[in-house]
Order: sequence, then structure tokens, then C-alpha cells
Amino acid sequence: MNARITGTGSYVPARVMTNAHLEQMVATSDHWISERTGIRERRIAATGEACSDLGLQAAEQALKASGLSAGDLDLILVATCTPDSLLPATACLIQHRLRATRAAAFDISAACCGFVYALGVANAYIKTGFRHVLVIGSEVMSAITDWTDRNTCVLFGDGAGAVVLSATEEARGVLSTHLHSDGSLWDLIHVPGGGSRIPPSEKMLEARQQYIKMKGNETFKVAVRTLEEVARETLAHHHVSVEQIDLYVPHQANARILKAVAERLGLPAHKIMMNVDRYGNTSAASIPIALDEAVRGGRIQAGSLVLLGAFGAGLTWASALIRW
Ligand code: ACO
Repeated sequence: MNARITGTGSYVPARVMTNAHLEQMVATSDHWISERTGIRERRIAATGEACSDLGLQAAEQALKASGLSAGDLDLILVATCTPDSLLPATACLIQHRLRATRAAAFDISAACCGFVYALGVANAYIKTGFRHVLVIGSEVMSAITDWTDRNTCVLFGDGAGAVVLSATEEARGVLSTHLHSDGSLWDLIHVPGGGSRIPPSEKMLEARQQYIKMKGNETFKVAVRTLEEVARETLAHHHVSVEQIDLYVPHQANARILKAVAERLGLPAHKIMMNVDRYGNTSAASIPIALDEAVRGGRIQAGSLVLLGAFGAGLTWASALIRW
């Protein structure tokens, strides 16, 4: 059995935060942000708008596009590092709100790689007999962003994307996923407080340990290297050349990272999906949002060969090759 993507969906909050807004908040400039990251604006969730609210909207769209109803789903996976709460899993909250009464549900924590990791898990479940799996990447990064830290606050945005995978006997769908991690690099990107190591406390809040910390420059170099490596590994696995790829859909972290990777791989600009200018880094949501835009914009069509690539906290990196 193969796992074919039969529907995509996405949702971003209405509120737009431009680089000009950030100039009012920290010592930065539109010029610095645009030059260093390619980001011009990002979406920010409304007060009270949580991960499951965004994910639900993306999921409903993906289900509609697939022609299935929630009752058909066997499994719901939510990739996120900003769940509604530590317990229960956000996937369960969405399962309830969709009324997907037959579905198992759990979250996957692999930061910006979460969607590709979840795709790998969904693919494996379909190979063992599940018929329909909903995979959602949803993030409210604004909740873990330190709005006084110019090194990080200019980078992130909120949003959600989703895909429905269905079992098929056709020779198409997810051809393979390639998942990697190196926990020795855990401190490149992390949120120190709020878990069992540093539980929530007044002291934790004073030290601003509930927010994301990042060694940007080191992360940049590792990102370029791992994205190139995992893309080459995936292409070699299938004896596919770069020229045969119709669209590369990478995690949208920084336009400079993506341009560097494309250059190393020899991929022309028109074969790379980029929307980081409008949404910033939406972590696990970035690839499914980009996929949905590519499908709705006609850049992915039946038969397209699509390569995904991601890296993120952990450190994790991953790719997938999909015959649409
Ligand atoms: N505005 C103005 N100046 C700034 C800003 C800002 N927003 N942020 C940093 N600077 C300054 C720094 O303080 C530094 O100043 P100094 O030279 O006086 O010390 C200078 O700009 C250069 O800083 P660098 O960190 O060297 O800048 P770099 O070119 O590396 O760009 C960036 C920084 C954009 C963060 C880049 O390194 C990057 O994108 N890294 C990857 C981040 C990433 O992709 N993370 C993804 C994972 S997130 C997840 O998994 C949830």
C-alpha cells in the first residue's frame, strides 16, 4: 500500500505583523530583517487563539479537498512545539472538534521538522493497514517568542497546514521519508523552562526561560549542510536526479538558507517553493502551508515529483519524496 495525499489545507491568522511593526518594538530595521532573512511580514494569532484553533481550520479544508468526512479518519497526527497545553495532546482536541470518532490521535514533537516526521509516521501506519490519516502542522510561535529579543522575535510567525493521506495501490504517494536527529546539538534552539527540568515558577518567568533561545549563526550553517545532505540522500535512494524534481518544498526558515541549499543542489529558483516573506518561520506549519499554496496555485499537479526538506530544534532534519 502507498500513502497518497488526497487533500491539503491551510490557515493563517488575520493579524499581519510587518517589519515596520517590529521596528517599533526592538532595535531592528526592515532593511536588516529583509536582507538577512527574506521575511517582510508574519501572521500573529489573536489573544486566546491556540494551536488547535488554527489546526482545526486547516484540517477542515484538507478534509473537504479530499472528499472524505471526519468519520473516515483512522488517525490524526499534530506536529507542533506550541500545543494548547502539555496535556492532553492537541491532536485529541482536534479529533473531538472534528468529531472524528474512529480516529486515534497523538502529537509529534520534532520542532520545525515535525510535519515531515509526522508524514513518515503516517506513511508507516498506512503501510500496516490504516486507510486515512490526517497530518496537521500547527504553531502559535508567538506564544513562545520573546518580544524583547531581536535575535529571535523577527523570525517567527503563526499558522497551520494539513494534509489527508489515503491508502492506494497506485504507484504514487509518499515514496520515502528520511528522518535524522543529533541531540548533541540540543542547545542550538531550545525553550529552557516550562517542562520538568525547569518547571514553571516566578523565577523561571523572571529569567524569561519560557521563551525560545537560539544560536542563529550556528543554526544557519547546520541548516544549510543538513538540508543539502538529506536531499542528496533521498535523491540517491531513488536514483533520481535534481533535474527530475518538479518542486522543492523546504521548511521556510530563512530565504538565505534556502537560496544557499538550492545553489549547492543546482536547483533553479523556479523549482523552489518560497513564502517565508509573508509568513516568517511557522515551524511545523511551514511545509504544509507551502504545500497547500503550491497545490492551489497549480505548481503541484497530479504526477508532480515533490521533494520536502526540513531542519529544526533537536537538532532534527528530514526529507520526503512524493509522487503527487
Ligand atoms: N535587527 C538588527 N540587528 C540584529 C538583529 C535584528 N533583528 N538580530 C541580530 N542582530 C545583530 C546581531 O546582534 C549581530 O550584531 P553584532 O555583529 O554587533 O554582534 C549582527 O546582527 C549579526 O548577527 P548574526 O547572528 O551573525 O546574523 P546572521 O547573518 O547569522 O543572521 C539569523 C541571523 C537571521 C538569525 C540567521 O542566523 C538565521 O536565520 N539562522 C537560522 C535560524 C533558523 O533557521 N532557525 C530555525 C529553527 S527554529 C525551530 O526549530 C523552532
